[in-house]
Amino acid sequence: MGHPDFNAMTSAVFRADPYPILAELRESEGVVPLNPGVMPSWHVLRYADVQKVLLSPELFSSNRALQGEGELAEANLSFLFNNMISATGDKHRRLRMIGNRVFMPKFIESFRPALAQVVAAQMARALQGHEFDLVEEFSAQITVAMITRVLGLPLADMPQIRRWTAVLGDNSGASTWLAALDPEMVERGRLTGLEMTAYFREYLRERQANPREGDLISAFASVEVEGERLSESEVLSMVMLLLLAGNETTTNLITNFVRLLDAFPEQAARLRADPELTNPAVEETIRLRNSIRNIDRFALEDVELSGVTIPKGGLVVVWLSAANRDPSVFEAPDAFRPDRTANRHLGFGLGMHMCLGAALARMEVQLAARAILEQTALVELTAPPVVAQNANFDNITRQMARFHPR
Ligand code: HEM
Repeated sequence: MGHPDFNAMTSAVFRADPYPILAELRESEGVVPLNPGVMPSWHVLRYADVQKVLLSPELFSSNRALQGEGELAEANLSFLFNNMISATGDKHRRLRMIGNRVFMPKFIESFRPALAQVVAAQMARALQGHEFDLVEEFSAQITVAMITRVLGLPLADMPQIRRWTAVLGDNSGASTWLAALDPEMVERGRLTGLEMTAYFREYLRERQANPREGDLISAFASVEVEGERLSESEVLSMVMLLLLAGNETTTNLITNFVRLLDAFPEQAARLRADPELTNPAVEETIRLRNSIRNIDRFALEDVELSGVTIPKGGLVVVWLSAANRDPSVFEAPDAFRPDRTANRHLGFGLGMHMCLGAALARMEVQLAARAILEQTALVELTAPPVVAQNANFDNITRQMARFHPR
């Protein structure tokens, strides 16, 4: 095949900063077919097309087993996909109903006091005047402390949990549309997966023997929908999904909020003067610098989008972060405007798979963002960021910073 823009989307320039290239292709083509030699893929960039893909599960399936990702399944990472995101039809409906039942607003809110304490402790540390790594020593400390509490795990296990999510965050970002999987990475993921499964299986059994109130593992082990409970392997898959879907993403969003304050000093000053704008500013961070840039689907029929026919069986890469900067929906799409009203970004997806943890993620990032705005006079980034070399994520792995107190 071959495509004039093949080089643009597979280049190092694209991995480092895909937004200008995505904008150009979104305006000129809308849907970009690519065939880099591993697996042909169709890249959907316009807001209206992204909406259509995500709202048409009868045409676009999220079942990864259908997407030829057998390599990962064979590598024994199937637990990553035997979950809600990959499930379709009745299986998805059942798992999602159980998820919805557990993730009630009251359940999420019950963690607010603990979160406030965690944020306060991290702020106190960060404000001591020394340079620190914003990713590992601030953002991840908040999100791992939260997910550990939400799951009801011992706080002493936090470093291990962070290590697991960082390894699997790398693996789940393997770009099947771009390159074959690196066997070493697959093996690392497999071993981590086995370790995690053993750990959570033991935990689950302990909880079944001694049920508790108020944590997620106990809730998933006991919740009944239509007279049925989750099987042990379903609870394990669910818990690991929550850990993976929720940790890297939220960590990066806190980090990216701070990076935006640095990149847009006038807006930062405005936010410090009016912290009531914190929540819309968090939505604007998700729109502009969401950690998840794209999600995958698989075409169940030939479908035409923006004049391009995606064939049945095609891997469809849905670029949330291209849609989130579509000028036909967002005025001045590349600007950070914390007061943007009716911010209809697609950062949490759309339709039946729309993020189950959005309320929890929002609560965490909003509390952290508000504390930063209220307690700092300046956030100084003291070195360039170390950017993850994966075009699918807007992820920073290291960002040295200093917080100056008010
Ligand atoms: C689904 C983004 C945090 C749990 C999704 C999807 C997106 C997303 C885009 C849709 C995937 C698809 O359609 O293929 C984010 C972002 C987060 C975040 C940007 C943080 C800033 C969380 C948290 C949790 C979570 C904290 C839970 C603790 C889930 C689950 C699904 C999901 C279970 C699958 C829902 C389904 O298939 O029905 N998320 N997420 N996420 N997310 Fe999140």
